[in-house]
Formats: sequence, C-alpha cells, structure tokens
Amino acid sequence: MSEQLKIFETEKSGKTYRAIRHDVVRSKQSKNSEETHHPIAKTRQAEKILKGKKGMQILELFAGQGNMTRIFAKHGDVLAAEKNKQTFEILNDKTKNNKSISTVRCDSYKFYHSLISMGKKFDIIDLDPYGFPSRLMPDIFLLIDRGWIFITMPKPAVNILNGITQTHLITYFGEPNPSKEKIIEKFATFGLCHWRKLVLVNHFELKSIYRFVFHIEKVKATDYTGVKNQ
Ligand SMILES: C[S@@+](CC[C@H](N)C(=O)[O-])C[C@H]1O[C@@H](n2cnc3c(N)ncnc32)[C@H](O)[C@@H]1O
Repeated sequence: MSEQLKIFETEKSGKTYRAIRHDVVRSKQSKNSEETHHPIAKTRQAEKILKGKKGMQILELFAGQGNMTRIFAKHGDVLAAEKNKQTFEILNDKTKNNKSISTVRCDSYKFYHSLISMGKKFDIIDLDPYGFPSRLMPDIFLLIDRGWIFITMPKPAVNILNGITQTHLITYFGEPNPSKEKIIEKFATFGLCHWRKLVLVNHFELKSIYRFVFHIEKVKATDYTGVKNQ
C-alpha cells in the first residue's frame, strides 16, 4: 500500500495503519482462508510425510477449525486442542462423527505441560499457532521419543515486529531477524536440550510463513556425544 493510501485509510477510520492491517488479518483468519491457514499446502505436505502410516498417536495444538485434524485422523488417533470458543465449536461440529478425533478446549501453551506431567507420548505433533512456536521449546520435545513434528513459523522478516517480538526472537534465536537456516539450527538445538535429534525432512515457504517437518529421535547422551560413563 502506498504511503498516501495508508494516510487516507487511517484518517478515514481513525485507526492506525497497524490496527487496520491487524483487523484485515483477523477477518481473513476467521474465514479460515487459504491465504491465512494454507490448508492446501499443509495437507499436501502432510500426506507426503504420512503416506502409508497407520495407528499413530497425534497431538495437534492450535487445531483451528480442523483442516489438518481430519487429515491426521486418517493416520491414527488425534488429540486436537483449540482455545477460541467459536472456533472450537466449529472444530467440534466438523469432527464429531470421527471416532479417531478427541477435542479439547484449552490454552495449548499450558495444556502441553499437563500432558508431559501425565507421561503422554505421541508419534506426531503439530504446532500451528498464529505467533511464534518458540514458546513451546524445548519442553514440547518431551512428548515425543520418535516421530515427526510439524511446525509453522512466521517469517520474521515479513512480519511487523514490535519491541516484544524482537526481544522474543533475540531470546530464542539469538537475533531479531533470524534467517531460515538459523531457525532450523535453533529448533535442532532445542531438541538436543532433551536429547532429541531433529532432522529436517520437508519444508515449504509461503509469503509470510515457513512450514517445517522434522523427524525426531530420542538419542542416548553417551552415544550422541561419544562420552563413556565411567
Ligand atoms: C494458524 S491457526 C490454526 C490453523 C489450523 N491448524 C489449520 O491448519 O487450519 C491458529 C489457531 O490457534 C488458536 N489459538 C490461539 N491461541 C491459542 C492457544 N493459546 N491455545 C490453543 N489455541 C490457540 C486460534 O484460535 C487459531 O484457531
């Protein structure tokens, strides 16, 4: 948008340009559009990775209206978490006839800690928040000993970063504008915090997000480091 148009828009509505842009994004999100949730690209990727796999235990945090939930359910049992009341109702409605799907209305950022304390393990985890998934690192890896993790990561460079998100990115990635390579490297490092070896097996990128799939395997610290316990 040109500077002149930005000024016109903001004067007309009395809102800042940032607030208007935020409203537009929220409206597209509530319509579950390809532009904001990318179901076609995510489905194509998941089907490639999960082809032929059955009987998986799957945890889907930030499940939204269930675009991916129904795809994952073809490969096993899905526990799908969603916080927003209206979105959760749509999720429930769309999945209620599928016995492989359980839904829970909760704050995913807190819920996954309760799963850890219950000793739950999954073969597949999907992290698809609107913001940065880094807040779930490194403890999310305690929920998976062997399998795959799907992670959506907003591209820092194309999002409007305020001081809070810049500080967040510096805290988790060591810099305010980490490259794709740096993000991949840091996720692998977070895995190693709990002795999980992460290998990137697939990814795609769109205008504003990366979608990564890592294979995860729990490793023995002694094997991984080559250090022998005396
Ligand atoms: C990017 S959308 C998910 C889209 C979905 N995975 C799909 O493929 O269609 C993020 C979702 O997370 C939900 N959400 C936001 N904060 C949450 C939280 N703390 N806990 C659980 N869900 C949350 C939003 O309501 C939204 O539905």
